[in-house]
Amino acid sequence: MKFYLTTPIYYVNGKPHLGHAYTTVIGDVISRFKRLKGYDVFYLTGTDEHGGKIEKAARSMGKTPKELADEMVPYFKDLWRALNIECDFFIRTTMDFHEKRVAEIFEKLKDKGYIYKGSYSGWYCYNCEAYIPDDAEEVDGVKICPDCGGKGEFITEENYFFRLSAFQKPLLDFYKNNPDFVKPKSMMNKVVSFVEAGLRDLSVTRTTINWGIRVPSDPKHVIYVWFDALFNYVTALRDEFEKWWPADLHIIGKDIIIFHAVYWPAFLMALGYELPRTILSHGWWLVDRRKMSKHLGNVLDPHILIKTFGADAVRYFLLRETPIGQDGNFSHEGFLERYNADLANELGNIVSRTTNMAVKYFQGNLPAPGPITDAERRMEEEWKKVEEETDRAFENYEFSKGLARLWGYLRRINKYLVETEPWRTGAKEPARTSRILLTCFKALNASLKFIIPVMPEAGEKIKRALSSPGEYTWEAYDEKRKIEIPELLFPRVDKKEFFKEEIMEEKPKEEKNYVTIEEFFKMGLKVGKIVDVKPAPNADKLYLLKVDMGDHQRNLVAGLRKYYSPEELLGKKIVVVTNLKPAKIRGHESQGMLLAADVDGKPYLLIVPDEVPPGSQVR
Ligand code: MSP
Repeated sequence: MKFYLTTPIYYVNGKPHLGHAYTTVIGDVISRFKRLKGYDVFYLTGTDEHGGKIEKAARSMGKTPKELADEMVPYFKDLWRALNIECDFFIRTTMDFHEKRVAEIFEKLKDKGYIYKGSYSGWYCYNCEAYIPDDAEEVDGVKICPDCGGKGEFITEENYFFRLSAFQKPLLDFYKNNPDFVKPKSMMNKVVSFVEAGLRDLSVTRTTINWGIRVPSDPKHVIYVWFDALFNYVTALRDEFEKWWPADLHIIGKDIIIFHAVYWPAFLMALGYELPRTILSHGWWLVDRRKMSKHLGNVLDPHILIKTFGADAVRYFLLRETPIGQDGNFSHEGFLERYNADLANELGNIVSRTTNMAVKYFQGNLPAPGPITDAERRMEEEWKKVEEETDRAFENYEFSKGLARLWGYLRRINKYLVETEPWRTGAKEPARTSRILLTCFKALNASLKFIIPVMPEAGEKIKRALSSPGEYTWEAYDEKRKIEIPELLFPRVDKKEFFKEEIMEEKPKEEKNYVTIEEFFKMGLKVGKIVDVKPAPNADKLYLLKVDMGDHQRNLVAGLRKYYSPEELLGKKIVVVTNLKPAKIRGHESQGMLLAADVDGKPYLLIVPDEVPPGSQVR
């Protein structure tokens, strides 16, 4: 009973957005669901840090690729923490063991003759790290990447190739024998058509890129980032490969299906490894009907939603709103409506109503329940059906369907309460009231099997309020358990308030302290170049800087020592406030001030492009 599942490893050229959160939430829900069923689970996620895309992004920010990766990784880890995602390992492709193992595997495939040397000319998309097909659209003689719409670059290089063409038949045979290899079915069909159309050998090294794993026997070649990245699923297991391989599930977005369902199994076949059992391909979250992506600049920061609604609500929404495989169009309005309807009004309300009655009438200790009537019998029968169907849906990764079914049953509990009216029997008819409340608690306890994986925080609160036995079945729950009223699970969020506070923030707020343009021009702002950096002898936070202002030099005292090394500062061009009254800081005169952005107390220097000469006016 082992279950090994993975997310794609995320590129570190930007911060994670709701699209990345989606894949990782799906994995976490599956992982928790399987754990509850008694599986030994290994859940892997991580970051994809090599390749031209990262190299380019880092260069444009004046950093090394490794610096960029080191800076970005905490954003991913923070978001996973904020979403209550628990992974068993977070792999970074710059980790030593990964680099070493990928190089070994490459050499092994080369020795076996599956990798050979050739040469390639063609259009390449650095954004997608892939060659652009010959039949792609051309604008002004430049091929346009069909995936991201970016401009291609024409390159010619000596490459190593992987003999992908040799795997057409084995792959087609494999798909035939494993028709559920890719879910949903529509994606499996797409994969089969792709392979049937013929496979060309795949270029698996680059000489135009520096940032990556070098081929040990031919170090001017850097291993193609996708070859490097896909093998994370193997290398991350380290000395537990035998225990976990093959992967039971790779969760991916539909944009990377060919890499996972064609190239990856072919690499594994060449190595003689077993193939993964299932690839689950999900659709995209769109904003204004376009894929949310860093490239398009329309990304949604999940932290805003988490702050207002909580991690549970974000997890629930992502799974409930759209069936996996289809695209979902995100809107704040849709989110808010679903939150209020399903969580505040439905689940939250049932839990609060029933536990309140149990405490009000019986101080949380249900008395001996009266006889079971037809109404209770129907509730139990219906639950058995719902449980079976929801379980089947979850096992099939059809969360939207499963949750819709479960919520149908929650509405049924509300109807049962309206029919049986426990508030009328109350403490006067304790046996009957107890039977009704017990029936609701049995249903809620059994629902935890599905609620806990999707909404771990709310699930735990309900579990505690019911003092659930930890076995989430109808039978396991009885009247001997102490009931408490949990804190409000899902407070209603007012639409007007939400849009005012969270969303409208994007519009400029009314400024209170306007300055006139004349006042602004009184500021002396000029570009200066840092030509000398010394730690202040008597203050461990300060640097003494010498800045070339074009026609003279100035001394500045800056509290940057915790954040920048002298090498990072030296030669940088910055903005200096030149007409600030000189001040003595720890005995050193500072003849001005430099400008930096403040991010939670951490300064980020405003760096001026290199071509701007010192002394230039800033306005
Ligand atoms: N680094 C590669 C994966 C290598 S796996 C061996 C990569 N990284 S990515 O950061 O661009 O994307 C990672 C995942 O996020 C993909 O599964 C992708 O589909 C998903 N998403 C990125 N944007 C998305 C949306 N707007 N909506 C849903 N998921 C999307 O590809």
